[in-house]
Amino acid sequence: MPDKDSNPLGFANPHSSAPCRIALIGFGTVGRAVAKILGESGSRALRLTHICNRNVERKKQPWVPNEVVWTDDVQSVLNSEADVVVELIGGLDPAEQIVRGALEAGKSVVTANKQLIARHGPDLLQLAARHGCQLEFGASVAGGVPVLPALRTGLCGDRLHGIAGILNGTCNYILSRIESARIPFSEALEEAQARGYAEADASEDLDGGDARAKLAILALAGLHTRVAPESVRARSIRTIDAVDFDYAAELGCTIRQISRADLKADTLFADVGPCLVPAGSPFGRVLRNLNLVLTSGQYGGDMAFLGAGAGGDPTAVAVVSDLMFVAERLSAGPGARGVAGRVFTPTISNDFETPWYLRFFVRDQPGILARLAEILAAHRLNIDAVLQKPGFDKAALPFVITLEPCRDSLLRPALEQMSGLNFSIRPCLCLPILR
Ligand SMILES: NC(=O)c1ccc[n+]([C@@H]2O[C@H](COP(=O)([O-])OP(=O)(O)OC[C@H]3O[C@@H](n4cnc5c(N)ncnc54)[C@H](OP(=O)(O)O)[C@@H]3O)[C@@H](O)[C@H]2O)c1
Repeated sequence: MPDKDSNPLGFANPHSSAPCRIALIGFGTVGRAVAKILGESGSRALRLTHICNRNVERKKQPWVPNEVVWTDDVQSVLNSEADVVVELIGGLDPAEQIVRGALEAGKSVVTANKQLIARHGPDLLQLAARHGCQLEFGASVAGGVPVLPALRTGLCGDRLHGIAGILNGTCNYILSRIESARIPFSEALEEAQARGYAEADASEDLDGGDARAKLAILALAGLHTRVAPESVRARSIRTIDAVDFDYAAELGCTIRQISRADLKADTLFADVGPCLVPAGSPFGRVLRNLNLVLTSGQYGGDMAFLGAGAGGDPTAVAVVSDLMFVAERLSAGPGARGVAGRVFTPTISNDFETPWYLRFFVRDQPGILARLAEILAAHRLNIDAVLQKPGFDKAALPFVITLEPCRDSLLRPALEQMSGLNFSIRPCLCLPILR
């Protein structure tokens, strides 16, 4: 039988045998799962001392040890002897004040809050360093997939220049359902909502806001760049039609919401939105609500991280792993310091050079292709292929033009000119093709 200190949550503690005291703020899906893992581990290294939630009485659980203090008073937690505060309430207000208050009180913080870290991560890391504490946020991107710890420790010896990922499980569920069942977007969204994979108002997910906040955090941890999430262009998946999967398949591809960031000198090329990806590629094979992150490094080459991007238990594993890391460093004594990270503010650009997929819905009439070709030629854009499947209603005919690689900025004026054409019955759908 292993003794308790060699259990999965135990670790060597050469300087102190005192347990690390943990205060949990936010006892919802993830908070409950964290408390459960801590309780079931029997660890002597991590001890849950406080659970704080608004209207806390209704939250009490019989399986939580009697010595844990239940409270709805955040300030009493910040004034307590807890070594680490775990912020799991989400959102910016009051989470930001709580995290700042904890760090200023000399407590390390573990959080799963992507909005908070995407907006204030660099400042909060500096605040933590000034107070000799640590701030860990491994669960804030890709839930239980340990990509952030990998970026901050396992890959920090490399010089990373690219990160790309499927970071939003809701979008991936919807796109892979349209792909497999050829159902309309609206039906796939309703199904995702009925199964609990999408919120009633899923705009943040569908329109890319969620993914670009996560991309900003990945860029902070892996590329050491300070990126305001709003500075990254986000394109919606709402415009994807079942027919786009037919045309993508003809090109050997499928469609996924991809978040990508490429660092070239002082410019960070960044974009979030639906892209064509090869059907047999790692991205093309990610189904349902899984997450995948690929990193590219100068020395180590490409790495892949795949797994459950959400859910109480997988996310709680990431939180508890952060807690173990923090506790181990605290036990190393007063010399241990949080990592402030060297960050710089790059120029943000979405001017990627790629091949493109342009899908038109038109009212059929003679001369349509000639007119489109004329506009593309006038903008010095080269057509690679024209695809038109038979059997569609001539009043709403979908067809596709693919373009040879060109910069986004060269394509936009041509799209602008095409938007005024009288045979067009929907705006042209323009997707990068990633090879
Ligand atoms: N769930 C996931 O799969 C997942 C994945 C990755 C990251 N995360 C992140 O993890 C964090 C927690 O998510 P969750 O899913 O556990 O959320 P949740 O189920 O909504 O839990 C949040 C808890 O915080 C409490 N709370 C909210 N505002 C509070 C306040 N001002 N003072 C005190 N307590 C407050 C809520 O109380 P009430 O019961 O009164 O509302 C609730 O118990 C978020 O940052 C989220 O983005 C979650």
